[in-house]
Amino acid sequence: MSKHLIDRAAEVLRTNDLGHYTVPTHGLYPFQWNWDSCLTALGQAHFDEARSWQEIETLFEHQWEDGMVPHIVFHKEDDGYFPGPEVWDTGRPVPTTGITQPPVAAFAVYRLFQRAKNRELAKEKARALLPKLHAWHAWFFQCRDPQDTGLVAVIHPWETGRDNSIDWDEAFERVPTDNVKPFVRRDTQHANPEHRPTQAQYERYIWLVQKFRSLGWDNSKLHDASPFQIVDPGFNGILLRSCADLAKLAEEFGEQTIAEESRAWAASGIAAMESLWSDAYGQYLCFDRATGSMIDSPSVAGILAAVAPIPDANKTTIAKRVEQLAEIASYPVPSHDPTDPRFDGLRYWRGPTWLIVNYMIADGLRAGGQTKTAAMIEKSSLELIKKSGFAEYYDPIIAEPCGGTTFTWTAAMVVEILSGSERVNT
Ligand code: DGY
Repeated sequence: MSKHLIDRAAEVLRTNDLGHYTVPTHGLYPFQWNWDSCLTALGQAHFDEARSWQEIETLFEHQWEDGMVPHIVFHKEDDGYFPGPEVWDTGRPVPTTGITQPPVAAFAVYRLFQRAKNRELAKEKARALLPKLHAWHAWFFQCRDPQDTGLVAVIHPWETGRDNSIDWDEAFERVPTDNVKPFVRRDTQHANPEHRPTQAQYERYIWLVQKFRSLGWDNSKLHDASPFQIVDPGFNGILLRSCADLAKLAEEFGEQTIAEESRAWAASGIAAMESLWSDAYGQYLCFDRATGSMIDSPSVAGILAAVAPIPDANKTTIAKRVEQLAEIASYPVPSHDPTDPRFDGLRYWRGPTWLIVNYMIADGLRAGGQTKTAAMIEKSSLELIKKSGFAEYYDPIIAEPCGGTTFTWTAAMVVEILSGSERVNT
């Protein structure tokens, strides 16, 4: 069975491979997405290490001068996607968006490096990526943590990848929709509209894009100018894990300055994460920096935070939380607590289960000694695939496949989970 699943996953990776980058799926997402590519590289490495390094290198060729790594690189024209390069208008030689995405790159690069069979290639590639990864992390702390709190804010829901999470509902009320230029969505022509964000949400996504564009995509201005500033524990958890991993990678190359700075960011961020902890839910919650208030919304972001080197006691509580959710949702981990009346099992990030999230949660829990829960998450993830194929996401209760089909990172995570015995957890 495993062999069969790996073959099917490899086929998905091949189908979406455009040579030097991979699309998440044809039609719905026809360009290179930042965190998709980095997690995809983990799966690719099992078949072709050189190709997996190339996936990440291609992304970093489009890093901005200020250090930001954009969320989409528009390698070629495709009017089947909205909003395309003309809406972003970032003035890049190869067009990109002007916002970023969860910084999984250093986590992926360190993992690729650790388990590479081709050591020479891994050294060469990781060495070259090291300063670029560090520059991206520095950009985060400089531009998205201007008050030096240790945690960064996202200024657009697309940055988190969790576009229409219930976490943003209240904050989104403050994002106006005046002067939004009329637009035609394309996503709903490729995927079931019931699985996608609403029109009202899209108008606010575009208002934010127009606002940032009017500021010339100047990252010294965007954070303070945005009415949407959220400190997301999942996003920060990924950043802090990446900082911790980059510190270890920098040690390998004797880059002490990068190592020390990365370790310091990880340490102060992990300490600051305590302010997001909720005893009531047994997980972390988001913080609305614009209003200075916690967001009462038990989403998977506060569980995904387990990917970071947070205290083991918190991981133990998060593992219990996952076990509790698994009693309600047969296919954990749901992107939102199903007992919340706002939960919607089919609609993107308002309830469905995502394999990349499961992978990172399982990884973090295992590193904290929660092996039973980690194995349970991985097992149910594979059951989802066997039952419903390589979809973008799944209803966590009935396993209905949702969103895009033949999905790259889902396939990459299947390869990763099935090759679990090879994984290195440090
Ligand atoms: C989309 O287009 O749905 C993406 O999530 C934006 O990155």
